[in-house]
Amino acid sequence: SALAVLVVVVFWSVSSSLNATSAGKVWTNIIAYSPIFDQFRSARVTLKNYIIQNLPPTVKHILPFFGNTIEYGIDPVKFLQKCQKEYGDTFTFLMLGRMMTFTLGPDGNHFLFNVKLKDATAEGAYETLTVPVFGKEVVYDVPNSLFMEQKKFVKDALSTAAFKSYLPIITYEVKDYLGSVFENLQAGQETEIETFQTMSELTIRTAAHCLMGKEIRDGLRVGSVTKLYHDLDAGFRPINVFFKWLPLPAYFARDKANLEMTNLFKTIMKKRKAENDTETLDVLNGLMRAEYKDGSKPSDDAIAHLMIALLLGGQHTSSTTSSWILFELARRPDVVADLLKEQSMVLTGKPDTPPHLLPDLDYESLRKLTLMDCVMKESLRIHTPIHTIMRFVENDVEYKGLIIPKGHFVCAAPQVSHLTESKFPEPYKFDPLRHLGSDEGSGEWTINGVDIAQKSARSLFLPFGAGRHRCIGEQFAFVQNKTIVSLFIREYVHKLPVDKKTGQTWFPEPDYTSLITIPKVPRNLLVKKRAEA
Ligand code: HEM
Repeated sequence: SALAVLVVVVFWSVSSSLNATSAGKVWTNIIAYSPIFDQFRSARVTLKNYIIQNLPPTVKHILPFFGNTIEYGIDPVKFLQKCQKEYGDTFTFLMLGRMMTFTLGPDGNHFLFNVKLKDATAEGAYETLTVPVFGKEVVYDVPNSLFMEQKKFVKDALSTAAFKSYLPIITYEVKDYLGSVFENLQAGQETEIETFQTMSELTIRTAAHCLMGKEIRDGLRVGSVTKLYHDLDAGFRPINVFFKWLPLPAYFARDKANLEMTNLFKTIMKKRKAENDTETLDVLNGLMRAEYKDGSKPSDDAIAHLMIALLLGGQHTSSTTSSWILFELARRPDVVADLLKEQSMVLTGKPDTPPHLLPDLDYESLRKLTLMDCVMKESLRIHTPIHTIMRFVENDVEYKGLIIPKGHFVCAAPQVSHLTESKFPEPYKFDPLRHLGSDEGSGEWTINGVDIAQKSARSLFLPFGAGRHRCIGEQFAFVQNKTIVSLFIREYVHKLPVDKKTGQTWFPEPDYTSLITIPKVPRNLLVKKRAEA
């Protein structure tokens, strides 16, 4: 009876914070799947015989409502791999009153990423989390067709000319920041860095300067934007997937930060319009020029909210990527040596130009750093920033003879795909060369006509997703992270610290408690300046 009381209390608090429809969905799931309601389930079988008989297998659980939440939350990859062994590629489990159906394997990925809009939507899955942080009129607050146009605006703004202009900016920011971090480091002396924090700082400085514009970058310098960013980011916690609003300080701070950031962008736009600034190739200027197919223009609020979405969408994904690359390279000095040789060949035509004499990277030479590409892909394979991708099932949908009912969440798990042994032998081994000559995972994206990205969805390597929701920041992420890591290894030698207790080197575990998989604390690296000789 204590358990029953607990369930009722938890459900009451959940349903009071959800809208009526979501609360209804949770109730339906509890009644349909909880063991304590077993006797009622037979009535449902009679009513929906066909659907029930063809439901995907349900993963065993003991606790009603919570189901497998704890197992999935602690290590989603291990849990999903275990389920895959026991139930096959398609199975359902209960998580906080929601039925999560996973479709694994290449076919499952193809199904999820290209599921018809009438059957399942991203907005149904993510709206609660994203709309309060990004704001209205954009992304999952608008019909998908409109969001597709907004994605196209961003893609158009990220032109080759824009990327060419970003290289000197990123180079400046990396040298400036690393220079200040290691300012007092003497030759031969070693220091410890908090890797994820260092990479986060580099990510926000470079992304803000290139994409958001110099005004936002200046705001970071004086600290005004930093506070707004952190308050918005705090709205991006797993708990917010379930609760759109609660009377807690973090929710008030998030809403206030959205308003202030929107106003900041609007002030910048006003100034740029007055000055008729058409030269700057940041995304903000691109969006100010954009026009929907019906001839209307996005409102200033919509532009500001899209900019917030880009700032948040690219921050942890990129900073965790550069962090994991550095961790993997720390135990592979042979790969670091090859990367330096590659930079030397591409930039000077000789394999052994000392790193400190290498000229700055430009966009064309960066594109030629093939091994660096492979290193980033291999890191994304083993340490995939977004391990689970969700859609909300709007209508009963059939997959391989199984019915995934309306109200379920249907999910793909790119991280599980990436660790499939038959495709990637010794899946946990960091082996960048396995990507040499493969363009898998780097798909094109278009809005009208043929969607080339869809073709690549029947794949086991999808760190940037596929189909209509495919990432539009991929190219920027490659330019940003390749430049950051290339410049870092030129100037510094780094290695893993030794754990005092075990005497072994310490490589961080993945932290699955935030929405993006980041390295778990402690996540330090030992760094010293590279000798110039
Ligand atoms: C979508 C991964 C960097 C903006 C996605 C998706 C993935 C992904 C897996 C698909 C989500 C889904 O299907 O639900 C990554 C990774 C990154 C990265 C691994 C870095 C290594 C960026 C950056 C930006 C960005 C730098 C912005 C400049 C977006 C946007 C979407 C997206 C706007 C579209 C969401 C949608 O259509 O629903 N990303 N991303 N991403 N990403 Fe990225």
